[in-house]
Amino acid sequence: MSIDMGKSTNKGTAMMKFAHQFQPGVILEDEYVGWFFDDSVAQSLQENSLNIGVKPTDDAQKFQQVAYWYTILREKYGDEVIAAAIASGCKQLLLLGAGYDTRFFRIPAVRERAVATFEVDLPKTIDDKQKYLIEKLGHIPQRLTLIPLDFNHDDLSSLFRYGFDKTLATAYIWQGVSYYLPRESVSQVLDFIKLQMTPDSVLVFDCCSPLMTFKNDQVPGVVASIDKLTEIGEPYLFGMYGGEMKAWLEEKGFQGVEILQQDDLEEKILHKRTLPNNMWYSVVARA
Ligand SMILES: C[S@@+](CC[C@H](N)C(=O)[O-])C[C@H]1O[C@@H](n2cnc3c(N)ncnc32)[C@H](O)[C@@H]1O
Repeated sequence: MSIDMGKSTNKGTAMMKFAHQFQPGVILEDEYVGWFFDDSVAQSLQENSLNIGVKPTDDAQKFQQVAYWYTILREKYGDEVIAAAIASGCKQLLLLGAGYDTRFFRIPAVRERAVATFEVDLPKTIDDKQKYLIEKLGHIPQRLTLIPLDFNHDDLSSLFRYGFDKTLATAYIWQGVSYYLPRESVSQVLDFIKLQMTPDSVLVFDCCSPLMTFKNDQVPGVVASIDKLTEIGEPYLFGMYGGEMKAWLEEKGFQGVEILQQDDLEEKILHKRTLPNNMWYSVVARA
């Protein structure tokens, strides 16, 4: 990649979604993600500065291309789960570690069905996002609530003070976050979600294989990725194999647990299997 992916992972993932808008055969349309970047980034992405779709020249580039596709596929899959949940009566959307998520604006059913949307993230990110939205819209939309909270130190029950209603069918989305937290925090967040979920609620989150958390030769490019994440101060702290995750969630009382490795998502959405299946995976579970 010839441009800096950013100094934070939330800008990095948003940038992949923005880059996707300039690629042929867009599968995830997002006319809002550009709000969080200046024109020079758009210009550089237009020139395919991330080298998407070109033959990778080294393992680091190969890793970035897989990360790009995984980011797009998990987002698309999450959208589908949310849309299905809303169609069957879900009234709330809780985006945990939302970063620069644009689903409130992007998914038509969220607006059409007036789904109350709560976005949780660290105070600095919430503050930055608020500034971008106010700059763009002049205000924060009425049904969108931004909540500053740290999964490692704060009590998730503070959500209720912001109007989150645990009696409503809710789509819980926790995307791109679990691997940045210690196991204890991951466990606590999952327990909290399980405790709130009504039977018609759904949880979508993702995790990674332990192979993503230490330097090894089974995942090409993971060495450079670990160095980069350490440099920006957001190292991966947690990973668990898919089978173990399913058993852990069932032990916590979740039901209907489904694990989708990268190539399962690829098969589901793009009808082909080329991606490796030992890196990240998405999980769907119900109470
Ligand atoms: C890789 S980004 C993913 C953002 C978004 N969910 C997406 O998929 O594009 C990870 C997000 O988790 C947030 N995060 C990381 N650690 C957190 C913590 N301890 N408490 C709250 N949010 C956290 C980060 O600020 C960041 O926005």
